[in-house]
Amino acid sequence: MPIQFDSESRTFKLDTDSSSYLIKIHETGHILNLYYGAPIPDATIQGREKRRVSASFSLYDPICGIDGISPDTAPMEYGCNGAGDFRVSALSVRNHNGDSTTDIRYASHRIYPGKKKIPGMPTTYVNADNEADTLEIDAVDAVTGIRITLFYTVFHDLGVMTRRVRAVNYSQYPCHLERVLSLCMDIPSMDFDLITLHGRHNNERNYCRRPLVRGLQGVESKRGSSSHNHNPFAAIVQCSANEEYGACYGFNLVYSGNFIAMAECDFNATTRFVMGINPTDFSWKLEPGEVFDTPEAVMVYTDRGIGEMSRMFHRFYNRHLIRGRWKTEKRPLLINNWEGTFFDFNTEKLVAFADTAKELGIEMLVMDDGWFGKRNDDNCSLGDWFVNEQKLPGGLGVLIDQIHARGLKFGMWFEPEMVSPDSELFRTHPDWHIHVKGRHPMLGRHQYVLDLTRRDVRENIWQQMDAILSKYEIDYIKWDFNRNISDAASALLEPERQTEFFHRYVLGTYQLMERLTTTYPNILLENCSGGGGRFDPGMLSFSPQIWTSDNTDPIDRLPIQFGTSLCYPASTMGAHVSACSRTGIETRGNVALWGTFGYELDPRKLTEAEKEAVKAQVAEYHQYYDLIHYGDLYRLVSPWEDQHLAVWEFVSESMEEALVTKVSIGNVWDRYRLVRMKGLDPNKKYHCPQLNITCSGALLMNAGIDMTELAAWDYQSAKLYFHTVDE
Ligand code: GLA
Repeated sequence: MPIQFDSESRTFKLDTDSSSYLIKIHETGHILNLYYGAPIPDATIQGREKRRVSASFSLYDPICGIDGISPDTAPMEYGCNGAGDFRVSALSVRNHNGDSTTDIRYASHRIYPGKKKIPGMPTTYVNADNEADTLEIDAVDAVTGIRITLFYTVFHDLGVMTRRVRAVNYSQYPCHLERVLSLCMDIPSMDFDLITLHGRHNNERNYCRRPLVRGLQGVESKRGSSSHNHNPFAAIVQCSANEEYGACYGFNLVYSGNFIAMAECDFNATTRFVMGINPTDFSWKLEPGEVFDTPEAVMVYTDRGIGEMSRMFHRFYNRHLIRGRWKTEKRPLLINNWEGTFFDFNTEKLVAFADTAKELGIEMLVMDDGWFGKRNDDNCSLGDWFVNEQKLPGGLGVLIDQIHARGLKFGMWFEPEMVSPDSELFRTHPDWHIHVKGRHPMLGRHQYVLDLTRRDVRENIWQQMDAILSKYEIDYIKWDFNRNISDAASALLEPERQTEFFHRYVLGTYQLMERLTTTYPNILLENCSGGGGRFDPGMLSFSPQIWTSDNTDPIDRLPIQFGTSLCYPASTMGAHVSACSRTGIETRGNVALWGTFGYELDPRKLTEAEKEAVKAQVAEYHQYYDLIHYGDLYRLVSPWEDQHLAVWEFVSESMEEALVTKVSIGNVWDRYRLVRMKGLDPNKKYHCPQLNITCSGALLMNAGIDMTELAAWDYQSAKLYFHTVDE
């Protein structure tokens, strides 16, 4: 049983194949975390709940007296504000009389197979109830009547747990949730490193690792989206942990808005980690009887290193987050015209793209930004989702028919959440953009963000999109989001609820996306936000792939893709071959093959030799599709550890196939390069046609391969394919 309750010790034990998690109900009713780590058989642990009482004037509960626990030091399962726990809190409720002392105690619990959905929000899911078990613990604030339910779902076979929280106001007065986080973890040590992913436009998800120090540390977004700058991911790993060895806790928030991921190390040298909606600019009014659900947080634990932590996320997301037809069905190999034309295209040019693309084996043409309103640059027309007949004479139908007649699928770009000041939409509804009355709102890329907290605004955008999607056969949509949110306020929210704006915005976006994906389940949706500015599990719940970065230079892409792979699978990483001239087309192809794969260039400008290379890449895309999309990733040499090269490997679930890719970043002749493969069956024999060798998995993993002279010059790359052979 993955979830057990021992009524004598009042302990819950949640087990996966790589972890145990113990929660105790203390006699005061406080809910305590006793343990999260490698599997243990025991149902309870002595001496974990108290730690020590005396801190700086530490407070204690009068029920137990001074020899009991102190909320200041005890490992709280869900730390509350104002009742003796002075660490970063997960919950703070401002009550009707104005105080924000919050103190929840155990009331009841339930254990059941399967997992519930969160109304209006994306979640990971079970395909069948026997895949996971759920524990709900209710805890009540006796004075205010607020009931908090802590949800834990255990995916036993995958080493994954998910957590989330529901707040219900059972009092007769309204209250305000000032903080209501998804996850709180008290770890009885601070001998760890914190890993986060930071970046900016064109340079997303860089690996950042630093030792935990006393005090608060972590990352957040206040930009209205999860952002380029910090991803809603964090890992707390043993200081000596590397790709292969060491204890790792990984955390990821299924959310696309403002978040925090914070660790606090206290005087006791223990660590509290919290993750959830950013409490800055947030407060949520809960009327009597109302319910608030937090987003879900995903947690993995392994003592087999950072690489295994990533693979656990990858397997989990491929099976329990990605939804719909394109979860398992092979996605069409596309060409996108953006970098090939920018705004300068018309029907004729796109049809010419399709002609050449077809010749090369490409399966879908995606028309990017610039097809609507009067848009010839980024100064205008967002919000006017009707076709620009000067570029596409006769309309969309004429273009789409010609694309389809060539046997290609057709996809197109929208940026549904935005409005240009120079647009019909803005002129008709000058109050629909996000702004504070009396202030001039900030512009970003000459555009405003629409107030998607409003039903009428969402409905208008939906009607415009639906008019196109219901009329034409559209196979793919790229949904873009190209600025941050400032001047947050909604004309329709009462003053007291303006602090709900950011979360309501995210819910509005989710509602629009859910409507799109349920009305048009066959459309392949790809998210984008100036590249990878909204690369998070919330968005992945709607779109099985996300454009990883606007930076398509394969050398710059290496740290971006390595960083992204810390928790997101290759199947989700939008990656295209562009016309970037720093490397040859082979290296561009080899790097893009790590992701969803496609092209982002003018195919008519390819040389004959490049066309031959593209045909070979198209064949490889098909050959390696399953191996890359659903195989296990091993980061053999990471660019954040080695300035000269990057090497990664995919191994199929059956261990019968492997693909190793090497890219030389600088001159690799600096030293002898032996690369040991991973994840193979030591007892099987593997053949590599490129090296013309046949040897055991044991040899490949222990003795390794000499890669010193393989594609050793600047920006060269090579792929080595291995498959099992009979003795
Ligand atoms: C963003 C996207 C690009 C492209 C442009 C179009 O920057 O990331 O891929 O779609 O918008 O304006």
